[in-house]
Amino acid sequence: MSKLTAVIGLNWGDEGKGKIVDGLAKDYDGVARFSGGPNAGHTIYHNNEKHVLHVIPSGIFYPDKLCLITAGVVLDLAKLVIEIAGLHQKGISCDNLRISPECHLVLPYHTLIDQIRESRKAKLGTTKSGIGPCYADRTARIGIRVKDLFDEAALRENLEINVSEKNPFLVVNGYLPLDSESLFDHLRSLRDSITPYVADTRNLLLNCDTSFLLEGAQGVMLDIDQGTYPFVTSSQCTYAGILSGTGLPARSEIDVIGVIKAYNTRVGTGPFPTEDAGSIGERIRTQGKEFGSTTGRPRRCGWVDIPQIKYAIELSGANAVVMTKLDVLSGFQEIQICTEYTGGVPGGDWGKARPSYQTVTGFILDTGVKSWDDLPATAQGYVLLIERLIGIPISQVSVGPRRQEILDIPVYCR
Ligand code: IMP
Repeated sequence: MSKLTAVIGLNWGDEGKGKIVDGLAKDYDGVARFSGGPNAGHTIYHNNEKHVLHVIPSGIFYPDKLCLITAGVVLDLAKLVIEIAGLHQKGISCDNLRISPECHLVLPYHTLIDQIRESRKAKLGTTKSGIGPCYADRTARIGIRVKDLFDEAALRENLEINVSEKNPFLVVNGYLPLDSESLFDHLRSLRDSITPYVADTRNLLLNCDTSFLLEGAQGVMLDIDQGTYPFVTSSQCTYAGILSGTGLPARSEIDVIGVIKAYNTRVGTGPFPTEDAGSIGERIRTQGKEFGSTTGRPRRCGWVDIPQIKYAIELSGANAVVMTKLDVLSGFQEIQICTEYTGGVPGGDWGKARPSYQTVTGFILDTGVKSWDDLPATAQGYVLLIERLIGIPISQVSVGPRRQEILDIPVYCR
């Protein structure tokens, strides 16, 4: 294994990781997704067409790159089959896709349980894709994995146990009970569609003498252990998730690129210290088209948050950062940067953090900017100030949704 580079979101997800992975993938032999599931939505422009990937790695547009869905990812087979078919329809082959037999399956009862919980007053604001209930079953050791689809007798038995456990909860909440036999038939037909892709992804990673990108999902602040619990997802979004998801050796040498937005967003409930719930947040949302790519929900918007990013750098092990969506701030006369929290994060409660801001002059970006040198000095100054404040290099900045709109920041700038 010659080179491993992970791409991890340093905010609350939606940083634009998919586009960055797609841009970097040309220099690697493959892309391995290590966590999350169909809750993610990675938006990529390929041949001037917009694609939203949910679990398929963002290297899929390069037919010569191996794309691995590793064991840390949970799969909703019905959605995966639609995702593959959608790519085929657009002429994109998935022959280079491999799926770990260890991936846990998101089953219809998981999605229903998630939806029932989200219909309550005290909701988390999940994507309602069944992620929490699926990872809960994984931890409870009653989950069903891709490999289990190939032992029909055991699968039948396992489904019966799971359905009999879940049905009382569904019925008491006004849903019809599920029938394990119909579920079995459904899974068997889906299995046939994915069988050609099933392969030992850990082995593929370990035994190839090549370079791989390791693609994260969501962001550090949504990590199950170190994020803003309970307003988090149910997987590991930090460096730890790379190792547990892929099964790479613990002492692997992995470079980590952290991705941040030029501002900040979060979708769903939970603490967000630099949120602007007023007209500024509204303007960022409109200019940045900040609506969820999986759910269409409006994202909450606010300013860049240095203490939050520094925390995420620690947990991700990032040694470089890419900043996305700088163009969205074009036209703001003034921009705020949260440089510190007065009094820190009391008791680890991010909801109690009180941000203090530094105000900087805004900028206007022309469309069609092709290089860092084309950016106005105020825009460059904004990026370089954030670089100084976070303490690690910002290697690239993106100024639009397409691959060619990712600009390298020359080393001489520092
Ligand atoms: P879940 O992952 O669907 O259970 O949702 C839990 C929390 O994570 C909610 O606040 C979601 O909005 C958030 N979340 C999950 N996936 C993403 C993502 O890909 N981008 C941004 N937020 C996400």
